Amino acid sequence: MNTTLSEIAVSHLKNAISVAVLTGAGISAESGIKTFRDPDGLWSKFDPIELASINGFMSNPELVWGWYRHRVEIVESAKPNLGHITLSEMEDLFEDFSITTQNVDGLHQRAGSLKVFELHGSIVKNKCFSCNRPYEEEVNLVEKKLPLCKTCGGKIRPAVVWFGEMLPRKEIELAVNAATNSDVYITIGTSGEVYPAANLPAIAKANGAYLIEVNPKASALTSQMDCFIEAKASEGLPMILNAIK
Ligand code: OAD
Repeated sequence: MNTTLSEIAVSHLKNAISVAVLTGAGISAESGIKTFRDPDGLWSKFDPIELASINGFMSNPELVWGWYRHRVEIVESAKPNLGHITLSEMEDLFEDFSITTQNVDGLHQRAGSLKVFELHGSIVKNKCFSCNRPYEEEVNLVEKKLPLCKTCGGKIRPAVVWFGEMLPRKEIELAVNAATNSDVYITIGTSGEVYPAANLPAIAKANGAYLIEVNPKASALTSQMDCFIEAKASEGLPMILNAIK
């Protein structure tokens, strides 16, 4: 088990001008938000095709809407944890620092991080399933009935990326640029199973970045890493911050 940061990793961090971070569900686990693929994760209980795909929404929009309302309630009552807060503190230490997140919970922004690219959208935002316009009306979390678009009458859906959907073009461009330009690329709390996000560390490495991963368990990305810190985000990230301050 490696819970330390090597001297070489510290030296890369101290000399880095540009640091880019990729986060996944694991960084929010300690805020009480369930991950997807851990043994008690969401996809062990729920079917992603039923609840997180276009076909799933078309065949039972109320079920999908209700499931997302429940998740919004959990996200709204959650607080950023030490992992999110440490990343927001790290932003001041580098000339360029960005977070690309697969999470839809907005906890990085609530922790104070300014440069956050949301690859999979945001669960607290909604849009029209038919015309794609943002839906900015307040949504009652206990109201089961699906709201309808004020412009076209289409069904309102959460503004997240579902299986089989394209990622938002601007966000993926920003994420690829951040990976390409980074001197150090830090991956935190992701299984590395979902593409194209899982390809970002390889893009960073191909462009000369030093790769660090923080995860309590080896992931599909671990073999590419230069330094693997086998720890929870709330332990591994403060260790990195203390080593470079
Ligand atoms: P996963 O559930 O696939 O992976 C979570 C990762 O977090 C695992 O590698 C865990 O070991 C790690 N982990 C657990 N607790 C942690 C902690 N306290 N600190 C750090 N790491 C911890 O989640 P993602 O990789 O984010 O997509 O999943 C990627 C995408 O798959 C999600 O964005 C979602 C899902 O389907 C969509 O909904 C489009």
